[in-house]
Amino acid sequence: MKDVFARDILQGRHAVITGAGSGICQRIAERFAAQGAVVNIIGRNLEKAQAAAQGITAAGGHAHGWSADVRDMEALQATVNACVDRCGPIDIVLAGAAGNFVAEAMGMSAKAYRTVIEIDLLGSFHLFRASFPHLRKPGAHVMAISAVQASMPTAAQSHVGAAKAGIEHLVRTLAIEWGPLGIRCNAISPGPVADTEGFARLAPGGDTSWERMREGIPLGRAAQRDEIADLALFLASGAAAYIHGTTIAIDGGQSNLGSLP
Ligand code: HXC
Repeated sequence: MKDVFARDILQGRHAVITGAGSGICQRIAERFAAQGAVVNIIGRNLEKAQAAAQGITAAGGHAHGWSADVRDMEALQATVNACVDRCGPIDIVLAGAAGNFVAEAMGMSAKAYRTVIEIDLLGSFHLFRASFPHLRKPGAHVMAISAVQASMPTAAQSHVGAAKAGIEHLVRTLAIEWGPLGIRCNAISPGPVADTEGFARLAPGGDTSWERMREGIPLGRAAQRDEIADLALFLASGAAAYIHGTTIAIDGGQSNLGSLP
C-alpha cells in the first residue's frame, strides 16, 4: 500500500514513549524514527527497551532505550529528565505501557486489579506529569493508548476496561488544562492487534476465543501494527493540528457494533 505521508515529517522532533519494547508502541516508535524523530524508549525491562532502540538505530534512525517502571513516579521522572538532558525539550509523548491478563472480577485479588490500574492509568498520568515541565509549548502532543474495552464492557477485562476508560477521561481533562498552552492531548483506542502480546493473551493459539471475537468485528480481522502506527503518526503530525481532547477508535468497527442479533 502507498504511504500517504510526506517524508521526514517528524524531523527534529523528540519523542518519549513507554511500552515501546514490544507490540504496538514498538512499531509506533519505529514509524516516528523513520520519519526523522529522535525516540526515547522507556520500559521496565532495560534489555527490551535497548533492543528496540538498537533496531531503530540499525535501520538508520535515532533512538535510546531506558529503564523505569511507570508505576514509580520518582524513577520515571528521573528517566524523563535524563532523556531531556540528552535530547532536549519533548515534542511527542506517548503513554503505551500496559498490563493485561484474562480474569473475571471474582478471579483476581485486589492487588491484581490494582496492578493493572497502576500500570495503565497511573502510569499514563505519571508519564504526562513527568513530561509536562519539559514539553515544547506551544506545539507538543501527548497521547495515550486506550483499548476497545474502555467503551465496550468485556467479560474478564473489568480491570483493563476501567483503567482504559480512566485514561480516556484523563486525556479529555488534560486537553482542557493544557490546550491553552498549545499542547494537544489525544488517545488511540485499538481493538485486537495482530502480533502483539495483548492479542496472544486474549486469543491464545488462534483458538475459538478468537473466532468468537472476530464475529464482533465488522471488518472481520485484527488490526495490523502498522495501521495503528499510521494513526499515531497522523495524530503527531501537523495534519492533525486541530484534533484535540478526543479518543480515536481504530477497531474495524467493533465498538460500533453493540450486541450481535
Ligand atoms: C488473576 C492475576 C493474573 C491472572 C496476574 N495476576 N495474572 N490474577 N489472573 N491471570 C495477579 C497476581 O497474582 C498478583 O496478585 C498481581 O496480579 C500482580 O502480579 P505480578 O505478576 O506480581 O505483577 P507484575 O510482575 O507487575 O506483572 C504485571 C502483569 C503482567 C500485568 C500482572 O501480566 C504483565 O506485565 N503483563 C505483560 C504486559 C501485557 O500484557 N501487555 C499487553 C497489554 S495489551 P496477588 O494478589 O496474587 O499477589 C492491553 C490491551 C489488549 O492492555 C487489547 C486487546 C483487544
